[in-house]
Amino acid sequence: MRIPISLRKEHEELLSMLERAMATPGEVGEAAQVVFDLLMPHFHREEEFALPQLGSLSLSGEGKVERPERIIELTDQLREELPRMLEEHVQIAIALESLQAAAESAGLEEHVKFADMLLLHAQMEEEVLYPASLLIGSYVKRSLVTQA
Ligand SMILES: [Fe+2]
Ligand SMILES: [Fe+2]
Repeated sequence: MRIPISLRKEHEELLSMLERAMATPGEVGEAAQVVFDLLMPHFHREEEFALPQLGSLSLSGEGKVERPERIIELTDQLREELPRMLEEHVQIAIALESLQAAAESAGLEEHVKFADMLLLHAQMEEEVLYPASLLIGSYVKRSLVTQA
């Protein structure tokens, strides 16, 4: 079970944009460092238990999955950690406000845009990816029960 490549690449792209902001001297770099310290452990947790389930989706839509027990385990963990994940999004959004303000006053549009992109990423996770992962877990659990 693998994280869809598009999602992994999106995380990588966001991190490389953030690294460019961190390399900026002064307030922008400092604010970017705060975002980084919050974001790294958050991305790691997502890649551990919130996103791998999505790798079992296919265009055939047949819903046949490999390692169903593992999918259920990951999804139980996601459900348990969900309040913390959402709280981290809030903390990241607060840190992004400072980064955005610093980037705006320095006239660095690139980093203002990055902050918007990361906010949108978190919103997409809350609206689409997390619910989809939870749904996959419920579906797999139900089909195991039906089989038994
Ligand atoms: Fe993410
Ligand atoms: Fe996230």
